[in-house]
Formats: sequence, structure tokens, C-alpha cells
Amino acid sequence: MNDAISSLSKGKRKIRPIAIFSKRAHVKSEKEYNSIYQRSISSPEKFWEEKASELHWFRKWKRTFKWDKRKAVFSWFDGGKINASCNCLDRHLEKNADKTAIIWQGESEEQVRRLTYGELYRETCRFANVLKKKGVRKGNMVCVYLPMIPEAAIAMLACARIGAIHSVVFAGFSSEALRDRILDSKCKLLITSDGLWRAGKDVPLKDMADIALEGCNCIKHVIVVKHTSQKIKMKGKRDSYWHDEVSSRSIKDICNPAENDAEDPLFILYTSGTTGKPKGVLHTTGGYLAYVNLTFRWIFDHHDTDVYWCTADIGWITGHSYIIYGPLSNAATILMFEGTPTFPDVDRFWKIIEKFKVTVFYTAPTAIRAVAKFGEEPVKRHNLGSLRLLGTVGEPINPKTWLWYYEVVGDRRCPIVDTWWQTETGGILITPLPGASTLKPGSAGKPFPGIEPVVLGEDGKEVKADTGGYLCIRKPWPGMMRTVYGDHQKFIEAYWKRFRGFYFTGDGAKKDAEGDYWLMGRIDDVIKVSGHRIGTAEVESAIVSHEAVAEAAIVPFPHEIKGQALYAFVTLKKGVNGDNSLKEALRAHVGRETGPIAKPDKIQFVEALPKTRSGKIMRRILRLLAEGKKDVGNITTLADPSVVEEIIKGIEK
Ligand code: PRX
Repeated sequence: MNDAISSLSKGKRKIRPIAIFSKRAHVKSEKEYNSIYQRSISSPEKFWEEKASELHWFRKWKRTFKWDKRKAVFSWFDGGKINASCNCLDRHLEKNADKTAIIWQGESEEQVRRLTYGELYRETCRFANVLKKKGVRKGNMVCVYLPMIPEAAIAMLACARIGAIHSVVFAGFSSEALRDRILDSKCKLLITSDGLWRAGKDVPLKDMADIALEGCNCIKHVIVVKHTSQKIKMKGKRDSYWHDEVSSRSIKDICNPAENDAEDPLFILYTSGTTGKPKGVLHTTGGYLAYVNLTFRWIFDHHDTDVYWCTADIGWITGHSYIIYGPLSNAATILMFEGTPTFPDVDRFWKIIEKFKVTVFYTAPTAIRAVAKFGEEPVKRHNLGSLRLLGTVGEPINPKTWLWYYEVVGDRRCPIVDTWWQTETGGILITPLPGASTLKPGSAGKPFPGIEPVVLGEDGKEVKADTGGYLCIRKPWPGMMRTVYGDHQKFIEAYWKRFRGFYFTGDGAKKDAEGDYWLMGRIDDVIKVSGHRIGTAEVESAIVSHEAVAEAAIVPFPHEIKGQALYAFVTLKKGVNGDNSLKEALRAHVGRETGPIAKPDKIQFVEALPKTRSGKIMRRILRLLAEGKKDVGNITTLADPSVVEEIIKGIEK
């Protein structure tokens, strides 16, 4: 331990694994990791066969891996029959029926629920039967628009149980965003709640869903969880309450899990890309489950007595893979929290860790920054002695924040796993293994077994150590997305075309001489605001849909808490006066069109945007200006270079 600290203070910034941690870890040393890694790369099929065999299969697969490179079509465990809900529930009943599966902490302190594996199994069966009664069949799409409550987990597992495909939409998204997603995947049924709590406010979720459903003919039924005190309107035959449905006598307790094909879709999840509307990322069953099951166990070093808390929302991939499918398939006890880190007080996280004796804590850099700004005192108010492992995800973590997390929260005794991955990757790809890896603050460490990252240059050749380039992955792994829902061509174009035969992640990275990866952020038009993934194209089209606006360009600028925030450069229609009230109106408009997370922090009205002679907006220049730079390099290619001077005069500080 002392060694670790002294190397930190000498500025070497390397923290070796802690002996008592390594001793009982799943992967115990760098040497062990190296040998597993080598084996996983030289015989990936064998490696994954072994790991997938730990799950419950109704029938074993016929072919482990098949890949048609040209068409970007691949499959894992083809011919196998499996059910994700059965692996998260039924499989544990013999030994763990009375073990707590979910501890739920509501936004208000006194609201706590606990569900054992036995209870979660029964609730899931009941709700699966409700879905069946409503006419939901294998392959149908079900939209889940819920706050962080146990019903969200039950709804997802119930879909998986009957072979329906869930499409969870983050409850912070607006009606418009919900409608787009429902229409794209033609969902048949929507599960929502009357309201949700956000920093003490009762947000009318059902009302928002009602607006979204205007003009959505595909939704036949809406099931509403009573959660807050929102007064809502229930619509005739379409709407019913969750509790009425599950308590109805016609629902028998047992629902046998469907024998799904390994390659049957498990879920779709919308995420932002470089162009156009969000894409429906499609994940299938067998490979995904095998991947999240193993990554959860090894990366979070799961042991039976752990209380694991991931603060992500169920509406993001982290919620899918590392709140639901990874942990529950390992019979873990998970904590689910409805609230935010700073409400009602800035010590909320630490209070909850102490209250439930959380052992493993997984959160985002933005949340750490949001609480770190209040200093050590709120942390030290609580006994965090139960913690043994910390994790982070969603955006690069700067070394200063990493060290604060390590020293103040983890008391220099808890390793940190900085996990790099994406909605598309299904699970974590680059990460330290806590009992084996030497940690370097700011680096996501090494590839997980079975994963072969490469950093490529513009020319498609691998770059030298310590040189930045495009992060790509060499071959599909079991947890990888299979396609963009309804648009395979888009899948090819977005991920497989830039460097033929490699999966292109959209991130910049460098690998150091010891093989550790340092992520350098997105190199496309995706911006990570508080770890949320925002596509500039979506926000631009939301702004442009406002009647006062002619054109808009969105770029990121560095933000102390959010990591990055949005800066909007906007040109207005003739005769419109760009004042502060219009800025507020535009922010509110984006909130309605997309959701509060997409509201630009800064809006600048400009006469014209910098464009090339062929009419292309030069975002590179706007980005530098938004960062406060005055020297933006060569601007002779611009149709009118004088616009840059004009913009500089009005830059928001
Ligand atoms: O830019 C990377 C960043 O988040 C992107 C993926 O976002 P999303 O699909 O929303 O999934 C987030 C949760 C898995 C990546 O392309 N990112 C994620 N984790 C890290 C990260 N950047 C740096 N370090 C990380 N640990």
C-alpha cells in the first residue's frame, strides 16, 4: 500500500494491485491476465465456448462464430437455445431464492424496497403473463419509459422471458424523442409511470407519454405504474394500471421462459451517431449475455456477499448491461437508486453507500466532479468502510478527478476500474482487472480477454506507441451489436467502412509502450455532455425547427462539471431580434424536442456561419472559437473569412 502511495506522490502515477484484493480476485495477477488474454486471442472460439457454457442453455449451439466480413453479418452460438430472464432468475432459485436481488432506494430517504430473487422471479412471471394477455408475442417490440424503479427491471426481464424485444427510452427524453423511437421500432405496447421524482419535483411522465402517442397508431396498450401523486388521464381501453393487471386473477404465477435462439434480438437501444436521427442499436441474446455475464464477474470482481451499486439510468446501455443482465445473471445484489447525487444534499451518494454497506460502486466522471466540488467533508461525514472497488464509465476521467475518487472516496484502498465501452459494444472492452492490473490514473488500461483493439492512422495502418489515432477493434466479439435496427446499410457505413474489416469506434486513443490505452474523446460529431451521448445533428435540427431560426451549428466546449457542454451558433431569419428571451425560448424548445440534457449551455446569434465555398459549415473553426481560441489557423478556404472576426467579437465567455 505505502509503495502505491509513494509512487503517486513521486508523480509516477502507477498503482499496483493490492495484495489482499488480488488474493481472492477472479483474475489474480498481471501474469494470469496475460496468459488468459493470449489464449483468448489465439483461440477466441474456444475461450467463448467455455465462458458461454457457464450459462443455462436449453440446447447447445451448433456453430460458435460465423462472420461474413463483406456484409458485416456475424453470429455467435448459432443454433443454441437460451433465455436471458431464465439465466437471471430461474437459474438462481435453487440456491439464491431468498437472496436480495434488488435493493431499491427511492428519491425520498424513507422509500426503500427489497426484492429477493424468488420475488423478482414471481413478479417477472406475472408481468410476462400480463404482456402475453395483452397480445405481445415473440419478436414484438415493447417500449419501456420508466424511472429508476424495480418495475423497470421487471418489465425488461418479462420481455426477455417471452422473447419480446424491449426498447427502453430514457425517462429524461421528451415526448418528441419518445415518439420518434416508438415509431422507428413500431412498438406495440408502452410501459410508463404516472410521474417520476426529479430533485423533489413530480415530473408528469404519463402526460409526456400521452403527447408522444398522438399519432402513434402502433401502440395498442399502455401500462402505467403508480409511482408519484400525479393526476393522470387514463385513456379508455388503451391504458391500464400495472398493479391492476398483475393482481388480476387470470394471471397465473408461472410463465415458462421461451426457448429463444441465441441470435434472437434481446433489445434495441437508441443512440446518437454522426448523422441524422438516433440509431436503434440491436443486441441479440446468447452472445450478449455471455459477454456481460463474464465482464461483470471479472471486472467488478463479483463475490456472493457484494452489494453492487451502479448509478447509471436504466435508459442507457450501462443500465442494461451492468444493472440488469450482467449482475443478475451472476445472482448479484444490486442497488437501484431513483435520485441524483446532490439531492436533497451533496452527500447523498455517500449516505446510501453507508446505509446499505455498498461494496462495489460504479459511476460516471461527471457525477464524481459534481460531488468533488464540495470537497472532502460530505464524504467524510460517512463511514464508507464497506467499499472495496470503484468504477467509472462514460467519458474520459481526468487524473485529478481519478485521484480524488481514489483518495477521498476509496481511501486509497479501493482499486478503480476505468471502463471504456459503448452502446454498440454491449459490454466493457478496455478496462483494468482490479486484482491484476497496475492502475494509471486517466488510462482505461488493457483490453478485456477476447478483444483486440488497434489504433489506426489516417492511412489505416497501425500507429506507433504513444501516438494518437483512431480506435478500432479487429474482430466481432459475442456482445457486439448485430445491426442498426431496420437499416443494415447504416451499420456498415457507420462502423465498418472507414477502415475495412475493422470495427470503427468513433473514438480517438493512444496506446502507451506498456500496452495501456488512453482515450482521447470522440472524433466525430458526437458530444458527451455529463457522460450522455448527444449527436450534434439532432440538436441542430431541433433548433432549426424553431420558427425564428435559419441555421444552427453545435460544437462542444470544455465544462468543469459536465466534461463537455454544447455551444450553439445560430443565424436567425430576417427581421428576428436575437435577444436573451429568444435564447431562453430556444433552450426550452430543444428541451421539448429532445430533452433537458440536450439544451445548449451557450447560444450565440451570428450573422453568418463560417462556410467553405461549397457551403459546408466549418465546425473545426467554430469548435476552436467556442473553446475561446482566437487563432483558428488557415481560413482562406472560407467563402467569407470575415465572419470569423465577427463571431470572435460575440463569443460567450
Ligand atoms: O467516447 C467514448 C465514451 O462514451 C462513448 C460511448 O457512449 P455510450 O454509447 O453512451 O456509452 C456510454 C457507456 C458505455 C465512447 O465512444 N466513453 C465511454 N467510456 C469511456 C469513454 N471515454 C473515455 N473513457 C471511458 N472509460
